[in-house]
Amino acid sequence: MTINKELIEWVNQMADMCKPDSVYWCNGSDEEYREMTDQLIKNGTFLKLNENKRPNSYYCISNPADVARVEDRTFICTVNEEDAGPTNNWIDPVEMKNTLNKKFSGSMKGRTMYVIPFSMGPLGSEISHIGVEVTDSAYVVCNMKIMTRMGKEVLDVLGNGNFVKCLHSVGAPLEADKKDVPWPNNPEKYIVHFPEEKAIWSFGSGYGGNALLGKKCFALRIASSMAREEGWLAEHMLIVGITPPEGEKKYIAAAFPSACGKTNLAMLTPTLPGWKVETIGDDIAWMKFGKDGRLYAINPEAGFFGVAPGTSMDTNPNAILSMNKNSIFTNVALTSDHDVWWEGLTSQKPTKLTDWKGRAWTPESKEPAAHPNSRFTAPASQCPVIDSDWENPKGVPISAILFGGRREDVVPLVYEALNWQHGTFLGSIVSSEITAAATGNIGNLRHDPFAMLPFCGYNMGDYFAHWLSIGKNADQAKLPKVFFVNWFRKDENGKFIWPGYGENIRVLKWILERVDGKDSVVKSAIGYLPRKGAVDTSGMEISPERMDTLFEIKKEAWLGEVEEIKNYFKIFGSKLPKELDEEVKSLEERIKQI
Ligand code: OXD
Ligand code: MN
Repeated sequence: MTINKELIEWVNQMADMCKPDSVYWCNGSDEEYREMTDQLIKNGTFLKLNENKRPNSYYCISNPADVARVEDRTFICTVNEEDAGPTNNWIDPVEMKNTLNKKFSGSMKGRTMYVIPFSMGPLGSEISHIGVEVTDSAYVVCNMKIMTRMGKEVLDVLGNGNFVKCLHSVGAPLEADKKDVPWPNNPEKYIVHFPEEKAIWSFGSGYGGNALLGKKCFALRIASSMAREEGWLAEHMLIVGITPPEGEKKYIAAAFPSACGKTNLAMLTPTLPGWKVETIGDDIAWMKFGKDGRLYAINPEAGFFGVAPGTSMDTNPNAILSMNKNSIFTNVALTSDHDVWWEGLTSQKPTKLTDWKGRAWTPESKEPAAHPNSRFTAPASQCPVIDSDWENPKGVPISAILFGGRREDVVPLVYEALNWQHGTFLGSIVSSEITAAATGNIGNLRHDPFAMLPFCGYNMGDYFAHWLSIGKNADQAKLPKVFFVNWFRKDENGKFIWPGYGENIRVLKWILERVDGKDSVVKSAIGYLPRKGAVDTSGMEISPERMDTLFEIKKEAWLGEVEEIKNYFKIFGSKLPKELDEEVKSLEERIKQI
């Protein structure tokens, strides 16, 4: 077990409150995983997939009322309300603890309490941090085994050190002699963070980011607050290494809101001959300055928890190949030979399936066979293009940071920030048209600063200030260059102008050339744009006129954008750093002069 007295005491306290039938310390072994999956099969939660098609893989459907992150039930409980800020739900921590003590009291009756020690990041890396999740869900244990480094070795590295306390219960105590349901959960859900205490209490949901507490709750919300205190960055960013033909590999990090193709960019198959893209991570980046003054990033996760629909051998072959064994599938459809399917996986739909609600499905069925937020959980090590340094404890040096969103007009294919302060401004104005992945009116713009709107564990105004201070305290020459990209601009017929996917390498090529100092820009009102012809379109069917429309800066539209930004910034009140106020004013001045 462990020598860590604080950990033993905390586990005892949690067991006293939740009253499980037994407490089990996970060792992380493959044998333990087999026992858990066997038990989940017996309970009707898991179905083993066809061993010949997808070895050691499992199929699972959740309760239809527990299918996604619940942003309206997610809370940041700081002593002062102002520290949670205008973009988070806040409740006083004492009041919230009172409520939750009642909810968790006896919540694990009839169940086992599993203790999962896990490391976010390679074991022992100076950038990594350790958490311990106690949970009454074996499904969570299995997913945490893929998504994190977990088990006995973590306790060895932890020793007497500090850890983030992660309490999770599905909130469905099991009465004696009552048979369990396949997906226990509670209609009332609480996803609660206490950043000052470095603790997470999650109640009522067994799904994804609500329950796998290492991911959004720890690696983003709690970690962003730790990063602010300690002078580093915890970001909703993919990390990739890009190697030009006969050139030197460089790493970039990129933040996009959900459903804007982060996993696709992280595993991109380049269309330009000789170029190579290798994956470090597809969702989260932790970045710290190295002794040489450069910013180094690790992927704190060990697996991918990706959205299945739309993923195919055409759109993302490396994701498909990552999940061909040792994977878990939640809320996708089941084929008659016990394999998986989802909308977009194949161009031809199977003639019959079992849908994610367990019903018979045919192509004539009204509803999709897979839930739009159905997921695959797959080990990152299985990605065919995983970078050889993905577990390097030092991390990888970041040369460029990209922000982006889904914008059908106004925003060009790519532009470069004038400097770090302007780059921080670009991060703060990320907005995206709402997709089916979020609630709201599809097509409407939603501001999602730094793609961190649902994931920042403190006041977003202070978060902007933290980004500015990172830049002020760094060696300017060693800071990553900042860019803004938009793959989604449409023409007057509503057709995407840029083909995206593997062709995005052409934009990455221009970005890398800029990192190398190539003089390939023109200064515009909004930042540096690629000089005409500087984005390599060789071998591509796109006319120079169509390329021009991708970079068109429309004066009236940008003046409207400025008004929109000014309005949005009002919510931050006195917490809005004066530098960002200056940036929006200078942007307005520059646009007026077009
Ligand atoms: C995710 C998300 O699951 O951003 O990565 O919602
Ligand atoms: Mn994400």
